[in-house]
Amino acid sequence: METTRGCKHVCRHCPITPIYAGRFFAVPREVVLEDIRRQAAEGARHITFGDPDFLNGPAHAQRIVQAMHQEFPGLTFDFTAKIEHILKHADAFPEFAASGCLFVISAAESLSDGILERLRKGHTGADVRDALRILRRAGLSLRPTFIPFTPWTTIRDYLDILDFIEEGGLVDEVAPVQLSLRLLIPPQSAMLEVDDLKPHLVRLEPENFTWVWRHPDPRMDELQREISRIAMAAADSGEDAALTFRSIRRAAAAVAGVTVVDAPLPPPDRPQTAAPYGRLVLLRRTPGRPARSVLTRISHQLSTTATDPPVTTCVSARARCNVPSRYALAFAGLQRGVSPGALRRLATKPGEKCGLIIPTERFFRD
Ligand SMILES: C[S@@+](CC[C@H](N)C(=O)[O-])C[C@H]1O[C@@H](n2cnc3c(N)ncnc32)[C@H](O)[C@@H]1O
Ligand code: SF4
Repeated sequence: METTRGCKHVCRHCPITPIYAGRFFAVPREVVLEDIRRQAAEGARHITFGDPDFLNGPAHAQRIVQAMHQEFPGLTFDFTAKIEHILKHADAFPEFAASGCLFVISAAESLSDGILERLRKGHTGADVRDALRILRRAGLSLRPTFIPFTPWTTIRDYLDILDFIEEGGLVDEVAPVQLSLRLLIPPQSAMLEVDDLKPHLVRLEPENFTWVWRHPDPRMDELQREISRIAMAAADSGEDAALTFRSIRRAAAAVAGVTVVDAPLPPPDRPQTAAPYGRLVLLRRTPGRPARSVLTRISHQLSTTATDPPVTTCVSARARCNVPSRYALAFAGLQRGVSPGALRRLATKPGEKCGLIIPTERFFRD
């Protein structure tokens, strides 16, 4: 469900920037509310606002939430908003919480100010910590996303992210795959205007729709592959997030040559408020069929099909990301343990051919 399309910001690494170039468009309030009514009638109990940034139009967002809460007081929701917006609209969060908001997804990306500047992200590492405090005060949880591996990431930067997650009590809020993500540089990426990216670029691979880059310290590239292996194995086995985090921390500490003291593990049967296990779903489109219709159907299937463990967050359409036009791209946030096979069964009709589902970690692997 989206209340806006596009984004008014122009972060360099973001796939939305080359397409919308800082523009965004509001979906009329009545259209959004009608969609919410339809989903509620089909049994949805939680709405994910999948806007690139829900707070690009804060008054629009607040009006929709108020109307939704008035009509469906039991409905919960989440949304995505950039750190800068969390700081700017800090006063709005208690009301979001009172209206059923459970958590906010926000792209921290890194805690290194130098990297954040190169990404033109509009916030600092200290801002990320402030955003966490603002949400916590309002009784909300923050689900930060990251791009931990960039050509400029030092092992210290990586350890800083792990410390932030651990000290902030966010281990259950960050899907392990997030800790393996490598900066993706598609052919039209605004990252290419950053001068000190050039020495790290190896070649353009048009078939993979990406520039290949190499870290100046080969140990960082090896660490990224190792974390990716850990995250994928953990996803496939449904391992407890705290155990996976411990393995990730040990792998990073080995590269840094430091000794880690393992934090005590939380009880394995703790309530699973854990971050949904995200998967990018890249579907081959049926010729002549608009990407949006494919995504709408997946969204519908995911929100109405009972699964165990349940699908908590539905597909947020990213149909017009700059992927080749024969694909539709969607992001499905799933509770940990939903296998690629189960997702494939949910997303495709029997006998249908459009079924290329690529877990996020594979998509982002170099
Ligand atoms: C959740 S979206 C942005 C949400 C929101 N608009 C904001 O700025 O906070 C950003 C996330 O998508 C992924 N992402 C976006 N661009 C990427 C890129 N070029 N390479 C790798 N991951 C990327 C990363 O996980 C990143 O943290
Ligand atoms: S990262 Fe977020 S805020 Fe930045 S351009 Fe992309 S959607 Fe907008």
